[in-house]
Amino acid sequence: MKLALLGGEKTITKAPAIFPIVPDAAYKTVEEMMKKGAISMSPVTKNFEEKFANYIGREYGLCMCNGTTSIQSALFAVGVGTGDEVIVPSFTFWATVGPVVACNAIPVFADVDLELQTLTAETIEKVITPKTKAIIIVHTWGTPCEIEPIIELAKKHNIKVVEDCSHAHGATYHGKKVGSFGDVGCFSLQGSKILSAGEGGILVTDSKEYYERACALGHYERIDGFSPDSEYKKFAGTGLGFKHRANPLGIAIADAGLDVLDERNEIRNNHGKLLESLLADVDFLKLQRTPDNAERVYAYHYMRYVPENLKNLSVTTLCKALAAEGVAGGTCGYGRLHKAPLYTESGMFGNGCPLACPHYGKEYKPNTDMPNTEILAINDIMIAPRFENVGREFIEEYALAYHKIAENIDDLLEYEEKLNKEEKTKDLGIGRSINSFK
Ligand SMILES: Cc1ncc(COP(=O)(O)O)c(C=O)c1O
Repeated sequence: MKLALLGGEKTITKAPAIFPIVPDAAYKTVEEMMKKGAISMSPVTKNFEEKFANYIGREYGLCMCNGTTSIQSALFAVGVGTGDEVIVPSFTFWATVGPVVACNAIPVFADVDLELQTLTAETIEKVITPKTKAIIIVHTWGTPCEIEPIIELAKKHNIKVVEDCSHAHGATYHGKKVGSFGDVGCFSLQGSKILSAGEGGILVTDSKEYYERACALGHYERIDGFSPDSEYKKFAGTGLGFKHRANPLGIAIADAGLDVLDERNEIRNNHGKLLESLLADVDFLKLQRTPDNAERVYAYHYMRYVPENLKNLSVTTLCKALAAEGVAGGTCGYGRLHKAPLYTESGMFGNGCPLACPHYGKEYKPNTDMPNTEILAINDIMIAPRFENVGREFIEEYALAYHKIAENIDDLLEYEEKLNKEEKTKDLGIGRSINSFK
């Protein structure tokens, strides 16, 4: 079969059918809330906090206006402040790391494991210093990190662990939900996530102290309810200068989403595993490894492209050929944060702070020795959209597109040969879809 890029038939002709982001059950609740005018403070928020904390297996939940804020609040809660170092991946969305700077602290980038695509105890240990206060681990694409060794390492060095679970609502490690291992678990509930409030976030913790600190930072209206001996009680009238309250209409949507999360995760997981089994013989794609005794969720389908196994075809030409076949996917643009001006230039907050802050007492230079991050930044590609309301034939068509590329590789190389260098190596950019080639 001739490749679509070279004039042949397209393999995938239908758009993927996804679950409605707003579950049916949410309409009635949201309508009632709107009629009552309960569009700011509403018991819906606290009910969801309890329900979600219970789902994850934690004592406290605190809704936020977004996931980014939940990470900033978590860092503040565990005591990260001026001049403290926080270990982070560069292979992640910007919002894992930006809040470190927002806390006036110093991000220290660590490499990820090539197969897991996440930080590990080994990569973290290499960059620990006496100034390390916290680590942010990310369960990237829905795959839990190898958590246990990370928690052990953190305990040994008295370092706090914040889990960024924005891709991993419902994923488990050793039978427990992600978000229940670190000092604080953070979840985005943004519109593209598998549990969504449109815009929103939530943090979970077992520590009353962390819960109260996060409330003090951005939820002034809750401080009054603290016990009289709380050291944060005095901030009841002012908070600490931020406001992080979530819109309860969005939280009502997330609440209805939580009721169907496990059921939907199971469908996505079955589809994800089917796709992986159909691609098992495609040796130019390497599966993201899930740690033993972990159950990932298929929020995203990413695999590492191995050019050596496809006669060194460029990732750009591969994506172009896939787009022509109708594949909805693309590059993610992760793995570039350590080169971003926010971390290479100081001073956005005045007087060089936080990166050249006198309280840091060291010269700041982002770590660039991250070979696996460099590989994934180029070659990790989204190979398929979220598979939800689709049948087996649809997933088989996706697998077929990849087999078609392998079978026609010589024609594709001949096509690539004729391109100029710029066309061959065109940077797909941050978050650019394969379909931007259309
Ligand atoms: C890994 C990761 N962390 C944090 C966030 C931030 O969440 P939000 O967009 O809700 O602020 C996202 C959202 O895209 C994310 O993917």
